[in-house]
Amino acid sequence: MYTLDELNNIVQKCKRCNLHKTRTNVVFGEGNENADIMFIGEGPGYNEDIQGRPFVGAAGKLLDKMLKAIDLDRNEIYIANIVKCRPPNNRNPLRTESEKCIEYLRWQVHIIRPKIIVCLGAVSARNIIEPQFRITKDRGKWVKKGQFYIMPTYHPAALLRDENKKRPAWEDLKNIRSKYNEIISIGKDGEK
Ligand code: URA
Ligand code: SF4
Repeated sequence: MYTLDELNNIVQKCKRCNLHKTRTNVVFGEGNENADIMFIGEGPGYNEDIQGRPFVGAAGKLLDKMLKAIDLDRNEIYIANIVKCRPPNNRNPLRTESEKCIEYLRWQVHIIRPKIIVCLGAVSARNIIEPQFRITKDRGKWVKKGQFYIMPTYHPAALLRDENKKRPAWEDLKNIRSKYNEIISIGKDGEK
């Protein structure tokens, strides 16, 4: 069993898929190692690749606002992506790439043991929930897998492109907050 730091050191050197050839930095993910909730995006974009940190560009700024709206911040949660290296021109990761990389995400989930996983966007939901997942139709409903409560919602970049998605995304956020409250209150009773 690795620690997150050990796993990070391994992933920093990873050449399992072709994305290693074009990356500037590996974006492992960051946040609270004991988080009860993890947010999972698709993969690094331009700014993330330059800085080596997840969600630091325009989508990241909106994600921060969304978190703030439900009284969460990055110190309380953990943020990672399906692929840790930027796909050229922000194309979707290929299946071969995500299949190789998701093993690292599984380790991260195994180490952090969140109660809630939020899938940001279709690529995240297809890799975590099921390959045919349709984000517009199927978002906003809890999926229970093993001990995890999984909530698929829109990617913040999709909200930047389409104002009409903001209202349903807000419903999802409120839903996430109330599940999170339930879980924290169970924790306080010592049953966690
Ligand atoms: N979009 C993602 O899916 N992940 C990031 O880290 C940044 C933008
Ligand atoms: Fe390795 Fe993932 Fe980067 Fe591919 S995307 S090189 S599997 S860390």
